Amino acid sequence: AMAEERTLAMVTCTAPVNIAVIKYWGKRDNDLILPINSSLSVTLHQDQLKTTTTAAASRDFTEDRLWLNGEEADVGHPRLQACLREVRQLARKHWGGSAEDVAPLSLSYKIHIATENNFPTAAGLASSAAGYACLVSALAQLYGVEGELSEVARRGSGSACRSMLGGFVQWQRGERPDGRDSLARQVAPETHWPELRVLVMVVSGEKKPVGSTAGMQTSVDTSPLLKHRAEVVVPERLELMMRHIRERDFEGFGQLTMRDSNQFHATCLDTFPPIFYLNDISRHIIALAHRFNAHHGHTKVAYTFDAGPNAVIFMLADTVAEFVEVVKRSFPPAANGDQFVRGLPVGSASLPEELLAAVVMEPVPGAIRYILHTQPGPGPQLLDDPSQHLLGADGLPRR
Ligand code: DP6
Repeated sequence: AMAEERTLAMVTCTAPVNIAVIKYWGKRDNDLILPINSSLSVTLHQDQLKTTTTAAASRDFTEDRLWLNGEEADVGHPRLQACLREVRQLARKHWGGSAEDVAPLSLSYKIHIATENNFPTAAGLASSAAGYACLVSALAQLYGVEGELSEVARRGSGSACRSMLGGFVQWQRGERPDGRDSLARQVAPETHWPELRVLVMVVSGEKKPVGSTAGMQTSVDTSPLLKHRAEVVVPERLELMMRHIRERDFEGFGQLTMRDSNQFHATCLDTFPPIFYLNDISRHIIALAHRFNAHHGHTKVAYTFDAGPNAVIFMLADTVAEFVEVVKRSFPPAANGDQFVRGLPVGSASLPEELLAAVVMEPVPGAIRYILHTQPGPGPQLLDDPSQHLLGADGLPRR
């Protein structure tokens, strides 16, 4: 046994949400989670959206346990087990053959994991990407391993591998059947485009009808458009998108972001039976964005939608106040006292008459629950203040 044997070890990490501008939709290997095309995303700032996870290991724990937002949950989930197995495997490799003895703590100890989001899960914001990125970061810290962790996070949820890095991130599809080259790579850090802003528009708390895992499987099986997209469209778009980002070209970035979101939803309609993630409010937001851009004569705002009706809108900082005012006029907030604009501060703007007349059509009261103002941000963080652990010294949730 090692000299200073530790009987309880605990670490806490946070991890971000990411939003794809070139979408991942479709797997070529369901178990390893290998995609049919590469994808590209923007990591969102953790001041507004993050998952926090505490992982603890102890000689005294009698079973592996998991708590999600304070509720005990099933640790047996195959994807969670795959992440755990992969991190332990890395630890064995890192610490040598006798890892049971030399690792910072014994790999045979049971673990307790507690995880929380700082945003409502019911809001339908992608939480699995941040969740698995955070789990893998915390486990890796716990076992003292470094290195290529996006490969491990990918086993939890495909999009989670992109949450392992900050800024602008590419998930390279890779070629190998074992997935060793299906990894996330940073295209540019979060400081690269300081004026870029993001508005998350929460339009509905409903759970999505078809989850992404099942939805994309049906699309792979039935959609010829998806096949064409993966083979022909995405490879071209990826190169273009990387150039737009490198050059901070909002016109190019915004146009391509909208087109790629629209094509993803077109592949959903091409799926048989078809899948619908956009709803009437989503379509209202799309029309509004196009009227706003047409009025200004160039691309000022760019929407993108994942497997649900919420819109994520990119713009430059100087557009935020005006666009938020347009949204307030178009979707007058329900007067329920809830804060309508959250996150980073938004200045006030008065709208010129001709903009109002050209852009704000028939208002739909209450259609948008709230807007979250955020920006690109860094990858997972280790919290070193023990008071932030979600588990107490007894290994049980604090609250
Ligand atoms: C529409 O990563 O949630 O958000 O790999 O099955 O867990 P699994 O799917 P998931 O799919 C995300 C799909 C998307 C597009 C994207 O994020 O690229």
